[in-house]
Amino acid sequence: MKNLTEANITDAVLRAIDGTQDARAKEVMTSLIRHLHTFAREVRLTQDEWETAIGYLYDTGQITGPTRNEFVLTSDVLGISSLVDIINSNPDGGTEASVLGPFYIEGSKMVDIGTNLIGDSEGEPTVVSGIVRTLGGDPIDGALIDVWQTAANGLYENQDPDQPENNLRCRMLTDKDGYYQFSTIKPVSYKVPTDGPVGRMLDLQGRHAWRPSHLHYKVSADGHRNLITEVFCEEDQYIEEDAVFGVRESLAIPYTLISSKKEADKYGVPSPFYRVKFDFELEAL
Ligand code: BEZ
Ligand code: FE
Repeated sequence: MKNLTEANITDAVLRAIDGTQDARAKEVMTSLIRHLHTFAREVRLTQDEWETAIGYLYDTGQITGPTRNEFVLTSDVLGISSLVDIINSNPDGGTEASVLGPFYIEGSKMVDIGTNLIGDSEGEPTVVSGIVRTLGGDPIDGALIDVWQTAANGLYENQDPDQPENNLRCRMLTDKDGYYQFSTIKPVSYKVPTDGPVGRMLDLQGRHAWRPSHLHYKVSADGHRNLITEVFCEEDQYIEEDAVFGVRESLAIPYTLISSKKEADKYGVPSPFYRVKFDFELEAL
């Protein structure tokens, strides 16, 4: 490995990993090394720039912990998380996936269909319902719906010590018709955390940190692939410029304002209220 040059160093590194036993790991690392070397050559990377990149990774590691993962956020704002979702989406259909985000909590409270999650939360009342089906259109009995969202201040319960535990998040099982329903407040658009390296990067790129308002869902059922996705309000001002590239056309839907008092009484919410309907199609394993 003497006489390394710009022209031969990539092959030298690839020879060094030649003994990688796992064929897929070898394929992925070979491609990664090739692309990183090509990138450095293409932009004529300077020593200072390389140190800045390493500093970014260092700071990202420092701020990352059990309740915050700045590596995932980096992947999100660079569109990698969404690209991986899209690459792995099912060409035969099914509900499109979207980013999980950092605010999911496993094991939130189990509630009955029709539960009102509003409690003391401020915001516009909203009734959400839908049906979980197979790709063939059959309703799935006992699918688990796990849902979470921001409060009116744009914060998730686990970002905000002033919100009660489990605020605006729950799990419920669909009935024999695949039906789920809950009442909540209309989610609001909010900014991804900007007080770390990702915030500095967004500033450097002249970008904002806003996400259009959305409901997060994790939907699972026996014999089916888990689905992680989001349902967006199509009229949100940031719908075309999500900071983490999570919006898909099929996931941006109307939130219909209903002013009938009779309808509001039916769901036990004040009038007027928003009505959101979203069905899921799960791929069989
Ligand atoms: C979220 O929607 O909760 C989220 C997604 C990606 C990055 C930050 C937040
Ligand atoms: Fe979110």
